[in-house]
Amino acid sequence: MSDPLLPQFISRLQKNDRHCRKLARRQELDCFRVYDRDLPEFPFTIDRYADQLLISHYLRPVEPESRMADLPSCLAAISQALEVPGEALHVRERKTKGDPTQQYQKLAEDKQLLIVREGGLRFYVNLTDYLDTGLFLDHRTTRERFRDLSRDKRVLNLFCYTGAFSVYAADGGARSIVSVDLSNTYLNWAQRNMALNRLFDPALHEFCRSDVMQYLQNANPNSFDLVILDPPTFSNSKAMQGNFDVQRDHPTLINQTLRVLEAGGLLYFSTNCRKFKLDRAAIKADFVKDITNQTIPFDFQGRMQRWCYAIKKPAP
Ligand SMILES: C[S@@+](CC[C@H](N)C(=O)[O-])C[C@H]1O[C@@H](n2cnc3c(N)ncnc32)[C@H](O)[C@@H]1O
Repeated sequence: MSDPLLPQFISRLQKNDRHCRKLARRQELDCFRVYDRDLPEFPFTIDRYADQLLISHYLRPVEPESRMADLPSCLAAISQALEVPGEALHVRERKTKGDPTQQYQKLAEDKQLLIVREGGLRFYVNLTDYLDTGLFLDHRTTRERFRDLSRDKRVLNLFCYTGAFSVYAADGGARSIVSVDLSNTYLNWAQRNMALNRLFDPALHEFCRSDVMQYLQNANPNSFDLVILDPPTFSNSKAMQGNFDVQRDHPTLINQTLRVLEAGGLLYFSTNCRKFKLDRAAIKADFVKDITNQTIPFDFQGRMQRWCYAIKKPAP
């Protein structure tokens, strides 16, 4: 072992892993974050997905004083510390200041899907073909809250991605669920996640390929009771009129969503735009509550740069 700092890194990984595994067992969970750049010399995030590891290596301009251990030694240390064989390590390079539209582009065509367990449910993840895996681990607690709110509700999942919130809503007994996304790939994945949990009912569950702004313009007023609104920070797909910037456009997006919400209905708005500032005055609702802290799971405590708000449409 060449690098003198590696033993410290290994013991940190083992300590974090013991702690997370204990909590994960209690939550029937086999996908969670083990390490998030705790030691500056080891700029990685490391996530467990069943018996696999996703390692994101954060590339940053090499500051003269920083000492970064060489990657092969780090990967060998991670494999040893977490007892995961080399072939089960999936490594991603991430730029600290990445281009937000990179997020959904294809990296490979392996199409290898893995099934992971969370909250008594199962989800397909893909650790090879995209920058993201198909399941945002940091939203686990928000999904559980959403399940508890879904009974007999008409649910709308906007920017639904692989439909994790829709699966939780169905498991929570939602009356109907509409999932909207621009990507057919993700809508098909969402439907497969629903079927994987034997929850898919075509009479109750609709998967709609549309630009969200256009969907909201065409939707009837007061037609939903519960909405999850989790837009990307930036989006400029050809299927859109112009582009979408969450800081600039969130008031219009939220007010358009409130229009399709029943009076007294609830909207969860979430963004992981780092420097996000909510334009409270522009939102046509009396009840706007920052619930970010209540939506952070154990493995993201103190590490989270995501905001979440509960917004209620005024009752008549
Ligand atoms: C941050 S992800 C949403 C994550 C999702 N809420 C979850 O927790 O799994 C953003 C999603 O928005 C979709 N998207 C981007 N621009 C869109 C648009 N204008 N209309 C609809 N979907 C869009 C992307 O395809 C992606 O699936």
